[in-house]
Amino acid sequence: MNNPDRLIVFDTTLRDGEQSPGASMTKDEKVRIAKALEKMRVDVIEAGFPIASAGDFDAVKAVAEMVQDSTICGLARALDKDIDRAGEALKPANSARIHTFIATSPIHMEQKLRMQPDQVVEQAIRAVKRARQYTDNVEFSAEDAGRSEIDFLCRIFEAVIDAGATTLNVPDTVGYAMPHQFGAMIRTLRERIPNSDKAIFSVHCHNDLGLAVANSLAAVDNGARQVECTINGLGERAGNASLEEIVMAVRTRADVFPCSTNIDTTQIVSSSKLVSNITGFPVQPNKAIVGANAFAHEAGIHQDGVLKSRETYEIMRAEDVGWSHNRMVLGKHSGRNAFRARLEELGISFETEEDLNSAFTRFKDIADKKHEIFDEDLQALVTDARSKAENERVKLVSLKVCSETGETPHANIVICVDGEELADSAAGGGPVDAAFKAIEALVESGTELQLYSVNNITSGTDAQGEVTVRLERDGHIVNGQGADTDIVIASAKAYINAVNKILEPMEKAHPQSGDV
Ligand code: KIV
Ligand code: ZN
Repeated sequence: MNNPDRLIVFDTTLRDGEQSPGASMTKDEKVRIAKALEKMRVDVIEAGFPIASAGDFDAVKAVAEMVQDSTICGLARALDKDIDRAGEALKPANSARIHTFIATSPIHMEQKLRMQPDQVVEQAIRAVKRARQYTDNVEFSAEDAGRSEIDFLCRIFEAVIDAGATTLNVPDTVGYAMPHQFGAMIRTLRERIPNSDKAIFSVHCHNDLGLAVANSLAAVDNGARQVECTINGLGERAGNASLEEIVMAVRTRADVFPCSTNIDTTQIVSSSKLVSNITGFPVQPNKAIVGANAFAHEAGIHQDGVLKSRETYEIMRAEDVGWSHNRMVLGKHSGRNAFRARLEELGISFETEEDLNSAFTRFKDIADKKHEIFDEDLQALVTDARSKAENERVKLVSLKVCSETGETPHANIVICVDGEELADSAAGGGPVDAAFKAIEALVESGTELQLYSVNNITSGTDAQGEVTVRLERDGHIVNGQGADTDIVIASAKAYINAVNKILEPMEKAHPQSGDV
């Protein structure tokens, strides 16, 4: 079971990543990301927290039905009802894992759980045994292990291995650990737990001090053979350890790490773009591996060096992480078959011919305005079309905006709400402000705009603008996306997309809230 040369990649974009405020995903979006992760050859995909809501349960089930090659994991607190729900959702999986957890740090046990350490050990054992009734692949996490006492961790881990846990996860839940300390913790656990050779040690690091990847790598150096991570480092607060950074560090520094992953690294950039596109969380240009500047050599001296010999300044090849790989272009003369084939290669398929046809019509519209269509355009187009299809209460019918030097911008909007066409107009500080005010005058969502961001999907002035709008109402946060070659229209679409999401809030329990 324990191959010391192999580092298992456990992706939790669909669970911990989705817990990030505003990053919640629909079932369909989760399935699309899961397909990309499977194509990347991720070993384990944590698809959600099935007891959180009916939507979460359905999404985990749908991912379990669709994915063939990766193991599908569902999260469950150390409670019978959570484990049963996870077991049920994972039934269709080719290979299923239940991930159960309970907090082990003094502060969490006393303040959150209000339980004695003995009770925590007992509950953990019970949970692992119950999970084993559904699958022989059971992971146990000691939440807040980074701040837990080592003696207690040794005790609880030894007990859960005896109960049947096959992976032991050591989370730095609050991102407090330092690499040398965290590495030493993993080594001590492996050395002191008598039955430690019966399980794989895993780590799950949060990035509050910007050390999630460093801590994960220190753990690998000390014998951890599973890393839990997310695409683009998505996750609560400052996020989780970033998959692409860990995978490329282990690969690039094979001289340092005595293990390797099974990841197809050429799928990294397209997966990053897909996650960014679906969640509306942009990737900063200087982000390692997947940032737009990660392989750009601007300074003359660097360029000269790279032209003479690539290795002077480049430690990785852009192609190896998929930068050039996904640049295949379609144009206005491309037919439906080429369109469908490229989407299939990107892991996007349609349930009905009608859906494909409407996406193709939209593609033709964009191709009329733009000479070349890149993969990023296709992904944005599909996200845009699907968000419309899923959120049917409010739809954009038309928008006219007047913006002139020295004049106040003005927007006239027509939207359709529950099948009824409504029109209004508003003035604003700029054309986007005017458009938002006109929409708000009609829908009266009572929300506050928390974030507005525009990114060009590809380069060039004819590029589609991809807009993210984050709205908040009574602590409920949603992100809306819209894409169009006209950024005011993209903005209106994004605002309407967010309004639709706020109108149908998803009731969802948070796994670490302490409510049971
Ligand atoms: O951060 C954490 O501790 C978690 C656990 C549920 C593994 O996400
Ligand atoms: Zn976490």
